Amino acid sequence: MSNVLKLTDMSIQFGGLKAIDSLGLEVNKGEIVAIIGPNGAGKTTAFNCITGIYRPTSGNIEYLGKSIIKEEPEDITKRGIARTFQNIRLFKNLSVFENVLIAVHLRYNDNIFTSALRINHRQENDMREEVKRLLESQDLYKYRYDIASSLPYGIQRRLEIARALATKPTLLLLDEPAAGMNPQETKELTSYIKKIRDEFGLTILLIEHHMDLVMDISERIYVIDFGKLIAKGSPSEIQNNPKVIEAYLGVEEDA
Ligand SMILES: Nc1ncnc2c1ncn2[C@@H]1O[C@H](COP(=O)(O)OP(=O)(O)O)[C@@H](O)[C@H]1O
Ligand SMILES: [Mg+2]
Repeated sequence: MSNVLKLTDMSIQFGGLKAIDSLGLEVNKGEIVAIIGPNGAGKTTAFNCITGIYRPTSGNIEYLGKSIIKEEPEDITKRGIARTFQNIRLFKNLSVFENVLIAVHLRYNDNIFTSALRINHRQENDMREEVKRLLESQDLYKYRYDIASSLPYGIQRRLEIARALATKPTLLLLDEPAAGMNPQETKELTSYIKKIRDEFGLTILLIEHHMDLVMDISERIYVIDFGKLIAKGSPSEIQNNPKVIEAYLGVEEDA
C-alpha cells in the first residue's frame, strides 16, 4: 500500500460557511504534493483537519490505510504526521537546542512536565545526543544557544522544520514554508525540502504561494478555490489549465 494519506469527500463547515466541500486528495509514499489556491480557499483548514485540530463535518481521512478522523492531535503526531505553521510557531524565548529537545521529549511522553520528572540521566543524554545530531545534520548546530526569536526569519523556518523532524514523521505538512522569503531564500528552501525528503524518507504535502517553488518541487498539485477542488495534475498540466489560470495563476487585474 503506497498510499500515505487519503482524503475522501471531506467537508467541513463553520456555521454557514462550507470551508471545504467534498475534497478528495491522495499523497503516495515519497511524493511531494502541493495544495495551492487563493487566500481563504481552505488550505490551512485542510491541514487542521488532517492533524486533528478540526473534525471534518463529513467524509474520511485515512493515514497509512487507517481512518484518523476520531483521533486526538497528540496521537496523530505520534503516528507520524508533523507540521509547520503558516505563522512560524516556536518557543520564542527558548534556545534552538531547547526547541528541538522539547519535540524529542514529546515523542517519548505526552506531557513535557511529567516526562521531565520520569526521565533518567541516560535517557536525557540520549535525547541530547539526538538533538545534537539533528541540529548538525540541519546545519543549525552553530545556533544552538541562540534564542529562537533572535534568529533571522529563514533560520526560524528551518528550526521549525527541524523540530518537526525531531518527532520522526512519515508525513510532513508544510504550511506556506516560503512565506515572507525573498527569491534567493525561496530557492534555498526548495532544495532543502528536497534534501530532507530524501534523507528522512519523507512524504510531503505543502501549501505554498511561491509558484516557482511549487512548480519546481511538486510531483502533483491540487488546486482549491472556495473549498472546492478545481484541478489536479502535474505542474505543467496545472500551469496550462484555464480554470486554474482564471482562478489563481494571474488573470491580469485590469485585463
Ligand atoms: N475556526 C474557524 N471558524 C470559522 N471560520 C474559519 C475557521 N477556520 C477557518 N475558517 C474560514 O475558512 C475559510 C478557509 O480558511 P483557511 O483554511 O485559513 O484558508 P487558506 O489557508 O486557504 O488561506 C476562510 O473563510 C476562514 O475564514
Ligand atoms: Mg492558510
